[in-house]
Order: sequence, then structure tokens, then C-alpha cells
Amino acid sequence: MPEIETNRPPVAIDGPAVSGKSSVGNAFAERIGYRFLDTGLMYRAATWYAIENSIDVSECSAVAQAVERMVFSVVNTDSGDNLIFINGVDVTGRLHSIEVDNSVSSVASVGRVREIMVAEQRRLAGEGGIVMVGRDIGSVVLPDAPLKIYLTATVKTRAIRRHRDFINQGVEVEFEVILKSMEQRDLVDSSRAISPLKPAADALIVDTDDLLFDQVVDRLIELAKDVL
Ligand code: DC
Repeated sequence: MPEIETNRPPVAIDGPAVSGKSSVGNAFAERIGYRFLDTGLMYRAATWYAIENSIDVSECSAVAQAVERMVFSVVNTDSGDNLIFINGVDVTGRLHSIEVDNSVSSVASVGRVREIMVAEQRRLAGEGGIVMVGRDIGSVVLPDAPLKIYLTATVKTRAIRRHRDFINQGVEVEFEVILKSMEQRDLVDSSRAISPLKPAADALIVDTDDLLFDQVVDRLIELAKDVL
């Protein structure tokens, strides 16, 4: 693992799909003057690339070979968002389709894919001052991070949030379809053999069900005060 700048130690935020990790993590990073990395986008990019190349996502070795070929980079915009480039093309806008949602858990369960992504995540963390968001950041990617947060909410709350996102984008998807897809993703993410979704032993659990967005960010700032 590359040396981490100890004066700007990383923050790990994990949690299930649509627990608010990305939006909260981004706002939190801005407040503390850190960069932000949403690692889910990296697995989504690998999934989009596999689909785009007509690869059967249940074929582990074919997926692994494709991702080894994929030339990708993550760029931070001035507003702190992440853009993902594959072979020099910005594919960020294509990574939240229902097709990618439905296949990303399979791709993320391929060991070789995780090795490639984790290596890049650790390289980026080595540059210091980063809030990294995902499923296994506190447990696997950055086990020495002094602040580990696990954001959570019930599957129903999360499906309602995702449904609202689709409506805001003008995309029509039935609520039940989203709920089923999310339940399935939770199951695969938390039961996979490699790096399953689970809080690190020393993670602080933040339940966001009854909290407004700003309240969650404030809570994180409060937790960071003692540590960063
Ligand atoms: O956070 P998200 O929904 O954008 O993540 C997409 C998928 O990527 C999710 O189903 C699990 C996987 N993922 C992972 O396995 N490890 C991470 N660190 C981040 C995401």
C-alpha cells in the first residue's frame, strides 16, 4: 500500500446502495477541504464497459480480461464530483442506468476486478486528504483510516430515494422494480465471498432513516472533530 500522508489521513465511508454515501460524502469532503472518491463509480464503469463489449457478466474470466484491457481514470471536477473516463471518453452519465444497476454486483464480485480497483483506490488515497466512499473501504481498502463511517437506512427508504432520483431525471421505472433490484443487490453485495458489504469492526454506524441530508453531514463533521 502506498505511504499515506499522515497529516491528512483518509476517511472511509461505507454502506449499502443509496444510503446517501455519495452525496453526503461529497458534501462532507467539501466542508473539510478533502477530495472525494466514489468507488462505486469505478465498479459501475467496469460493468458498463463489459456490457458495451457484449460480455456475459456472469462469466468471471471474460469480465476480468475485459477490465484488464479497460484504460480508465477518475477526475475530480471543481465542484468535487467524480468523472470517469474510459479510453479518454467521459462515460459518467451512463453509469446509473437500470442495466448497470442490475449487473454491477456480478462484476464487483470478480476477484481480479476488485484487485484492479483496490490498487487504484489505494494509489489515490496515497496522495492524501481523501474521503473515499464504497462498500469495503474501512474493512479492506483503507483499514488504517482513523475515521470509518458506516451509513445505513432501511431498504424501503433507499428504494424511495432511488425512485425519486429516476423521476427527477425523467426516467420512468416502477417502484417495485427498484425495490426488487435493491434487495437483490443488498443480498449479493453482503453475501459475496470477497470483501462483502459489512461495517469494519471499528466503524461508527450512522442510521440515516430519520435524518435530513444536512443533519447527516453535520453528524459526520461532529465525528471527524475528534479524529482528523
Ligand atoms: O455505491 P454504488 O451503488 O454506486 O455501487 C455500485 C456497486 O458497486 C454496488 O452494487 C457494489 C459495488 N461496490 C463494491 O463492491 N465495492 C465498493 N467499494 C463500491 C461499490
